[in-house]
Amino acid sequence: MKEKWWKRSTVYQIYPRSFCDSNGDGIGDINGIRSKLWYLERLGIDVIWLSPVYPSPNADNGYDISDYYGVAPESGTIEDMKALIKECENCGIKIMMDLVVSHTSDEHPWFVEAKSSPDNPYRDYYIWRKGKADQAPNDMESCFGGNAWEYSEETGEYYLHFYHKKQPDLNWENDAVRKEIWKMMNYWIDMGVKGFRMDVIDVIGKVPDQKIKENGPRLHEYLQEMNRETFGGRDMMTVGECWGADTEIGKLYSDPERRELDMIFQFEQMQADQVPGKNKWDLKPLDLVYLKQTFAKWQQELDGKGWNSLFWNSHDLPRIVSRWGNDRKYRVESAKMLATVLHGMKGTPYIYQGEEIGMTNYPFSGIEDFADVEAVNMYRERERAGYSRDEIMKSLCEKARDNARTSMQWDSGHEAGFTEGTPWYHVNPNYIEINAEMALEDKNSIFYYYQKLIRLRKEEAVLTYGTFKLLCPDDEHIFAYVREWDEKKWLVIGNFYEEPAEFSYPESGRVILSNYEQETEILPGQISLRPYETLICEMITISKSS
Ligand code: GLC
Ligand code: CA
Repeated sequence: MKEKWWKRSTVYQIYPRSFCDSNGDGIGDINGIRSKLWYLERLGIDVIWLSPVYPSPNADNGYDISDYYGVAPESGTIEDMKALIKECENCGIKIMMDLVVSHTSDEHPWFVEAKSSPDNPYRDYYIWRKGKADQAPNDMESCFGGNAWEYSEETGEYYLHFYHKKQPDLNWENDAVRKEIWKMMNYWIDMGVKGFRMDVIDVIGKVPDQKIKENGPRLHEYLQEMNRETFGGRDMMTVGECWGADTEIGKLYSDPERRELDMIFQFEQMQADQVPGKNKWDLKPLDLVYLKQTFAKWQQELDGKGWNSLFWNSHDLPRIVSRWGNDRKYRVESAKMLATVLHGMKGTPYIYQGEEIGMTNYPFSGIEDFADVEAVNMYRERERAGYSRDEIMKSLCEKARDNARTSMQWDSGHEAGFTEGTPWYHVNPNYIEINAEMALEDKNSIFYYYQKLIRLRKEEAVLTYGTFKLLCPDDEHIFAYVREWDEKKWLVIGNFYEEPAEFSYPESGRVILSNYEQETEILPGQISLRPYETLICEMITISKSS
């Protein structure tokens, strides 16, 4: 495998609205990010994935873009953006932009033109169909609930939207659309961004008449064209968000020989707590065996043939310490354990803002607490379908995207130090005990633990290139595996539960990292793991030649 900087890098995702507000309007902005670069530098991350800062009516918090070339007034100005790129460069951090090109906002000038008449030159930038006897063209569904076709009064036809009705899908079959997108990507490349995170990129090959959404027939052709026309041959980092990928598809995206993307951001392992065949709102307790085996499958299948993203969190997922850790008594221990088993694998790790201080889910009390269109629509749909209020609330509390969107907790002052005004959304009341300032003052904090993991990845090739072997695949309490590279053998173990657990390994080793006070060595045989205990050990193996 070729040496590439992004294989040793750690990415930090910023959701700008909720990160830091510089001017007291309650909305996080680019200058707020600039004021916190010292913090990211101290953490040691290499890349910022910047969720959208483009002008947007915010039907989906910026994932509905009305101008690909600009910066939203609430986020700042293009000058602020240039300054951010420059200042990041000075401290060795690269900016990866969110690229949302499967759809635009319905307020994008292309769509405003397109909907005005069937003959408009922009009509074919989107996907229009006639209805069938006063009904939508077919029964494809929107991810936010309801039919994916919206009737448009002006011309009496329907347009396709896989998300909000204010997010009409672009027609990628139209060459002119693709050319517009390449042009826009090159504009940001010229401005100095060093990567793109591609929003729901697996749906650009859609063929709605055949009800094909993900993995359409021309998807990979489009990505190869994109590579040629934009970032190909430049030293950048690209990652595709794909909800509907298996490992074979994962290789198509990320096999370097194919010249598409560098890595894939897929979600198969994140389904370990949902009822199979249902959706994320249909809850079941974590199936650790599924989780481990799914990770292991991706680790092995992509080895040498592609590249994985490693993540627990994003702006679309609930907080991991609340989800699969313990956000009360063992918050610190379990957050560190989860970080260890994730960052110990092969791939590029992603940290979502606040994860590094162990931020938790929000204590929602009713539907009025949710801001996200997905949550609000789900509530209405399930109510209509006869679910009880308690059932719906339970699903929402556990899985709503709003859990990730509360303000970053900087300190124990006014509104957690996020804003001097009134935040656009909730601040978790636990900011008094959980905040960045306190984490920085405590040498045993989750923050410094992440700092060590990030540093280890830079220093130790075994983490980047080592082979991966899952141990005790059927054990229901422990996640353990071995990484091996160039005479080095690392063992990573995590106890996923509060109950102590036993693990046995036939070799001795030196402890590299742990979330408990430890002996410096482990001996061959039984290892007793305390609640949520985790270890990385370098095993002392007898060299192969002797
Ligand atoms: C992606 C984004 C999500 C957004 C959706 C539509 O999944 O991560 O936040 O709602 O795409 O753009
Ligand atoms: Ca602001």
